[in-house]
Amino acid sequence: MTDDSQPLDFDKLKEFVEHVFGFLSGAVVSGMIHLGDRLGLYQALRQAGSVTSEALAQQTGLHERWVREWLRAQAAARLVMYHGDGRFALTPEAGLVLADENSPAFAAGGFHALPQQFAVLERLPAAFKTGVGLPYDAFGPEGAAGIERFLAPWFRTFLVPLVLPALDGVVPKLQAGAKVADVGCGAGLALLEMAAAYPRSEFHGYDISQHAIARARENATRAAAGNVTFHDANGDALPADASFDLVTTFDCIHDMTHPATVMRAIRRALKPDGTWLIADINAKPTFEENLERNPMVAMMYSISVLSCLSSALSVPGGAGLGTLGFSEPLAREMTAAAGFTRFHRHHFDNPVNAYYEVRP
Ligand SMILES: C[S@@+](CC[C@H](N)C(=O)[O-])C[C@H]1O[C@@H](n2cnc3c(N)ncnc32)[C@H](O)[C@@H]1O
Repeated sequence: MTDDSQPLDFDKLKEFVEHVFGFLSGAVVSGMIHLGDRLGLYQALRQAGSVTSEALAQQTGLHERWVREWLRAQAAARLVMYHGDGRFALTPEAGLVLADENSPAFAAGGFHALPQQFAVLERLPAAFKTGVGLPYDAFGPEGAAGIERFLAPWFRTFLVPLVLPALDGVVPKLQAGAKVADVGCGAGLALLEMAAAYPRSEFHGYDISQHAIARARENATRAAAGNVTFHDANGDALPADASFDLVTTFDCIHDMTHPATVMRAIRRALKPDGTWLIADINAKPTFEENLERNPMVAMMYSISVLSCLSSALSVPGGAGLGTLGFSEPLAREMTAAAGFTRFHRHHFDNPVNAYYEVRP
């Protein structure tokens, strides 16, 4: 209940209205980033240098009036520089973030599945009423493509050169020929990066999303990766045969309806001296700490409602951890309950993820 006995502070009211509309501004500008990425406008701008809307429209084969309005929106949002005389340009930094798919700073992939993410808003009111959310497949094929493009810069840049060598004894095993599983593998980029680096090893990806597995198989065919197999985890689950040297889970434990069951399955799949690498969101144990210490907290809780919590509650009785629900203390507790005895946290320069090396 609001306190109506207090007189209204009109400065605060104005400030709050601006605060609220700031989010609408962020949402519609995000839509424009999606279009710029999808239509190749950022890449064309980067190639062109300082350019007019006419030249950019010609270069991209698009209608000039639409390109001009988009450029003006981009300049107003300070994503594109306006040089006067109808000329627009990307700074070198903006070029890396918005137009260079191979840069570790590339962020435009995070806007790929925006239409599908916003479309589920039509279905979420029902989830609030029934308590049951939507699995990742609710976002369609573009959802799987969006996650791939969102997380790809990290996999391409850091996984093989930085993260795997930090794990105790893992790289020599991979060089000699090891058996690896990536559980919740999505479109398979992490596995394909590892498979290319270690051709003597055998790699298996598991996911419950049909769209992710279909895309992962296409990616494997395109990469001509002969040492990678993708499995639909609904019917073809991780075998309980203690045959794996390494299991990885990237940003998916908090999305699972039954993470404790999956953890026990990983324990059974691993060799006695095997390793489980967990990368998950760097969440704090309490809401208060997340609120205080995480600058991306509003975005993360919102993404949780749109996708992570929704996935983790997509069957009745789901665990419902959500984006910021798998903190280090909980990871320690749950892995110990699943039969793991060793737990080591690594500190890589990644503002979003925490990395745990867990062993039987
Ligand atoms: C945020 S995505 C991360 C995908 C991938 N690891 C990556 O980093 O690109 C989470 C994935 O976990 C998958 N997932 C959720 N529950 C799962 C389960 N029980 N077993 C396997 N995959 C699961 C989802 O289908 C989705 O593809």
